[in-house]
Amino acid sequence: MLANTSKIFSKMSYLRGFSSSAVRYSDNLFVHRDTEKDNPSIPFEFTEENKKRVKAILNIYPEGHKRGAMIPLLDLAQRQHGWLPISAMHKVAEVLGLPNMRVYEVATFYTMFMRKPTGTYHIQVCTTTPCWLRGSDEVMNACKQKLGIESGETTKDGKFTISEVECLGACVNAPMIAVNDDYYEDLTSKDTIEILTDLQQGKVPRPGPRNGRFASEPTGGLTSLIEEPKGPGYGIQADL
Ligand code: FES
Repeated sequence: MLANTSKIFSKMSYLRGFSSSAVRYSDNLFVHRDTEKDNPSIPFEFTEENKKRVKAILNIYPEGHKRGAMIPLLDLAQRQHGWLPISAMHKVAEVLGLPNMRVYEVATFYTMFMRKPTGTYHIQVCTTTPCWLRGSDEVMNACKQKLGIESGETTKDGKFTISEVECLGACVNAPMIAVNDDYYEDLTSKDTIEILTDLQQGKVPRPGPRNGRFASEPTGGLTSLIEEPKGPGYGIQADL
């Protein structure tokens, strides 16, 4: 019986599982490992200015529901430090009066929390279907070649980190990248190289579409709603 079962399994190993796309694992580590730069003995404190922000954020939430402030507080800690070390998570747990575990659960779930040292410029390349169809592979390759690192890595000078991410909600301007809070859209690999060159030289390129569009309007001009607006009440009252 056992011999038969192992024969069946050895045959099955030739069969591919039913899946429509390749399996890809995140480049984020979902467990914490103490390192020189990230361990609980490194103190973390909010700056005086951010302490006021912490207070303002907590005030939004009613008594008994303060834990609702966890994501804004983690975001604040990450903006202050550049990424989210374990000591910052402990600080947020302390502020909210929660066990550390409650904060780990949230910080490890959302991939926008960077739990390892991250470059000054976090380059997030969207490779979800609309961006992929419009050339996100070329955009990603341009980033890798220009910076000399792979996705998930940081340059030696600590300036740039590349991440491959899922849809960032700007599909109508695909392909796109996010650099920290700014979106760069309608990109070619040439645009991508120009953006990275500017950043390397300390310049901040203008965010938004790079193909001449103002926002997400059709490139060839308007195709609908092209007549003069009729005004309120049109068609309801004869005198309007
Ligand atoms: S698919 Fe890239 S922004 Fe939506």
